[in-house]
Amino acid sequence: MPPKKTPGARKAPAKRKLAEEFPPGEVLTDSGKKQWKLGLPVGQGGFGRLYLADANTSTAVGTDASYVIKVEPVDNGPLFSELKFYMRAAKSEQIQKWTSTHKLKYLGVPRYWGSGLHSKNGNSYRFMVMDRFGEDLQKILESRGKKIFARQTVLQLGLRLIDILEYIHEHEYVHGDIKASNLLIHHKNPNQVYLVDYGLAYRYCPDSIHKDYKEDPRKCHNGTIEFTSIDAHNGVSPSRRGDLEILGYCMIQWLCGILPWEDNLNDASYVANSKIRYGDDISELMEKCFPGRNKPDEIARYMECVKELAYSAKPPYQRLREILLQGLKVLGCKDDWKLDFSIVQNGVVPHNKQKRKLARMIDDDSVDEENEPESLVKQKPTKRRAAKTFAKSAPAGRSRGRTKNN
Ligand SMILES: Nc1ncnc2c1ncn2[C@@H]1O[C@H](COP(=O)(O)OP(=O)(O)O)[C@@H](O)[C@H]1O
Ligand SMILES: [Mg+2]
Repeated sequence: MPPKKTPGARKAPAKRKLAEEFPPGEVLTDSGKKQWKLGLPVGQGGFGRLYLADANTSTAVGTDASYVIKVEPVDNGPLFSELKFYMRAAKSEQIQKWTSTHKLKYLGVPRYWGSGLHSKNGNSYRFMVMDRFGEDLQKILESRGKKIFARQTVLQLGLRLIDILEYIHEHEYVHGDIKASNLLIHHKNPNQVYLVDYGLAYRYCPDSIHKDYKEDPRKCHNGTIEFTSIDAHNGVSPSRRGDLEILGYCMIQWLCGILPWEDNLNDASYVANSKIRYGDDISELMEKCFPGRNKPDEIARYMECVKELAYSAKPPYQRLREILLQGLKVLGCKDDWKLDFSIVQNGVVPHNKQKRKLARMIDDDSVDEENEPESLVKQKPTKRRAAKTFAKSAPAGRSRGRTKNN
């Protein structure tokens, strides 16, 4: 059974259970015998529950906790695959080494701190400890009148995402589900963005041997329908070019608010065919998304560059960065490693009231806890636009829960 088609956050397919909610104070012991204490829930995805957490001490876990624990019933696939990615590629030393050898100010990959199994009320759960972050970009987008970011902010996001993707790719993985709700702002530093949710991550190049191009109808349309790559639509295992294509669709949506195929997301073939058609004629895509307006030429050039990539080709990350940097230059900006979400349009700064609201969303230190006690620890119900995971011809959960080991 495909996932529900009502707009909104992802739904867990019927077959999979969501973990029961644990009370604050629950203590989990990881496989290295380290104990962790849970705090308040911080979010809920289609499959897992997420809690604030800290090392187990005598005090309760506060809202300034440094860790988040993701918990899923043990039989669920996504956390199992996600955990493998984190254990292979997200250890603190690995990230630190890459950051210094590549001279980055930071790398937006969450660090892995431990994992284990936990039993409660006769049920068994898998859990994983990672860095704690703040608000996701989808919520920031939705808090605005127009669901768009300024061009300079999108280009800065693109640059940081290329850094992240290069790291992940060089560690044999692709992400496969880049989108605003999987991009989190650091909870103390609003200029840093992190890519989370490796439930669809795929080891495209195990032990340096690239997977072959093979269309498998059972895997068609894996990912989030509006952003997923043409390879994924065709049922091909994702590779590096797909991640960059997804990033391209995200950047366009963040700039203009809506992608041309969003008028019928329930029809996966229509979405796939639209992407193929517009991919063949990128100037038509630009005209459709930015009619009669100042078109972001750098995005067209980025898309052209990605389109040229063979399935198993290593993307020219530096060339792609240079294309986006050129876009910043045209705007009179440079890559300052900052993310200014307060700019509504290029050069237009909002009223102080709106600015304060945005600042509150991305910096929990400035939250007035008495007036907004849950604004950062619990997800407020939001009218989420459809960002659906789609598995048309695959059995329930296939799109999120690939069971095969990779
Ligand atoms: N490390 C984290 N720190 C803070 N919030 C998080 C963290 N990881 C996830 N979240 C929140 O939980 C939501 C769901 O997490 P995600 O890993 O995307 O789960 P799913 O695989 O179920 O989509 C995210 O959109 C985000 O709001
Ligand atoms: Mg997610």
